[in-house]
Amino acid sequence: MASLNYFPCTATLSHSPSCPTFPKPRSRHLQISSSISENKNIDIETNSNSQPKVDRRNMLLGLGSGGLYGAANLVINPRDSSATPVQAPVLDRCGKATDLNSGKDIDINCCPPFSDRIVDYRVPPVFQMKMRPSAHRVSPEYIFKYNMAIDRMKRLPKDDPRNFFQQANIHCAYCNGAYKLQEGQLEGPDPTEVLQVHNSWLFFPFHRWYLYFYERILGKLIDDPTFALPFWNWDNPKGMTIPPMFLDEKSALYDKKRSKNSTPSAVVDLGLTGEKDPLQLVTNNLTIMYNEMIRGNQDVYGFMGKEYRQGDAPDPGPGSVERGSHTAIHWWVGEPDKNGEDMGNFYTAGRDPLFYCHHVNVDRMWTLWQYFIPSNKVPDKRITNFDFLDASFLFYDENAQLVRVRVKDCLDNLGMGYDFERIDLPWLDYRPPSQTAGAKIRRTNAISKLAATIFPLKLDQIVRVVVKKTKKGKADEVLVLEDMEVDTSKLLKFDVFVNDEDDNSFELDKAAYLGTYAQLPHKSATNKTVKTSINLKLTDLYNDMDIADDDSILITLVPRNQDGGVTIGGIKIIEAPPAKKPDA
Ligand code: C2O
Repeated sequence: MASLNYFPCTATLSHSPSCPTFPKPRSRHLQISSSISENKNIDIETNSNSQPKVDRRNMLLGLGSGGLYGAANLVINPRDSSATPVQAPVLDRCGKATDLNSGKDIDINCCPPFSDRIVDYRVPPVFQMKMRPSAHRVSPEYIFKYNMAIDRMKRLPKDDPRNFFQQANIHCAYCNGAYKLQEGQLEGPDPTEVLQVHNSWLFFPFHRWYLYFYERILGKLIDDPTFALPFWNWDNPKGMTIPPMFLDEKSALYDKKRSKNSTPSAVVDLGLTGEKDPLQLVTNNLTIMYNEMIRGNQDVYGFMGKEYRQGDAPDPGPGSVERGSHTAIHWWVGEPDKNGEDMGNFYTAGRDPLFYCHHVNVDRMWTLWQYFIPSNKVPDKRITNFDFLDASFLFYDENAQLVRVRVKDCLDNLGMGYDFERIDLPWLDYRPPSQTAGAKIRRTNAISKLAATIFPLKLDQIVRVVVKKTKKGKADEVLVLEDMEVDTSKLLKFDVFVNDEDDNSFELDKAAYLGTYAQLPHKSATNKTVKTSINLKLTDLYNDMDIADDDSILITLVPRNQDGGVTIGGIKIIEAPPAKKPDA
């Protein structure tokens, strides 16, 4: 085990742009297994059909052999008549998009140019792996090329589906209600039900495909098939500021519609607490990452998002990264006074080149979670349900060919031909220090109510509520916030703490922090309120606070945005279902 010193910027980065400087965290000893940050070698073998095969041996830390999603061991539940994966949209039914903040139709057309020639996409054989670099570490040559590629994209004819604004509109069309679920697929529900790719298990796959084609288009425009998009490394203190190349006003990477946070030194606030102290922000951010990637998820859906099928109401529930750090970055970059534009609102997010850099890191989180989190920490990492694997989307590829892609073909980034530069993962062992003293509920403090008495509850102030555990004694349990009614037209965020009577809610770097719910305004159902729920795993927190033997716990809900867009139907603790064994 090598101890990781992540402050300040390393001197080895010859092209290091202005390095953010942070004070050292208080009494936190970071350790990272050296094997995690080492380079991995990728062997590409060619079999008799000359289809290259990626050997993942060096990548599969703690996962046993075979990989997660290798084609050979992928078990797909057989298709049955009730299978209803979300179908790719029908282009000529693409309609008006809606801005829910104002309730008005968006006066731009988000729909792509029409084509009725759809090809089922096959990922081409990989002969050379593209390496996506950390945006804070790239060379001036890289920045020059990237800038040129985006500039050329902006100069393509307006009706070319690969044009910069057409690409931005992809996000608008899939997220602000322009696409409807396909006719004939629905039994019962409104056939005009919108297709929504956020707040469910489609989140990671949709954005992965989106970036995949975006990257290929840029590569084609500069005639460099190895071009790889950069990632905004906001999960590492060295990357917790806006990557400098996006701040150059003369660059094609610049966007003027950003908040006052877009200064070279502002540290991202993944907790959206409004905290200003950079040290506190860094420790909050690392705690949040540890929580989203490891501590807070009960099962695979806790990370990926809840199930969503054709005919389901949209927004069944986002996964931990989506509703947390991902949403926070959108919000933090967007301009609050201008309806969140560009980054803070789905219909405009893709107009800021920083959006793609942000999402490459979100995509990287999926890969890290699949392959770098040891299976003793997160045992259940795959969804084998046909309704997930066979869900499909439409994109235009680098040749302006309309293609249909499926979730099952995007589960492995190496198979798709790209990898990420290896960067230390300082959050990997950032479990909050145990907090036993004072962790018991102080009964004398009569501030709390019993859960049974106050729900449903409009969350417009800090609320404390006592929730009974399933049983006394050591327990493996999950907190469920159920029947949450969420106004999808609002920016929303709240945090959840356990046995925390301290009113300093800016500090998230403590054992008592259990999780977060945040969302950006988007189009959901015809009705702008949706029902959703989240599950937060309590087991590790019980150990960190030594309260596994108590018979009830005190939950504190801290809204960060006070306009009452969330009503919580109820809170309960359930026993954690046993973790699924990976399929044999
Ligand atoms: Cu489609 Cu970050 O959102």
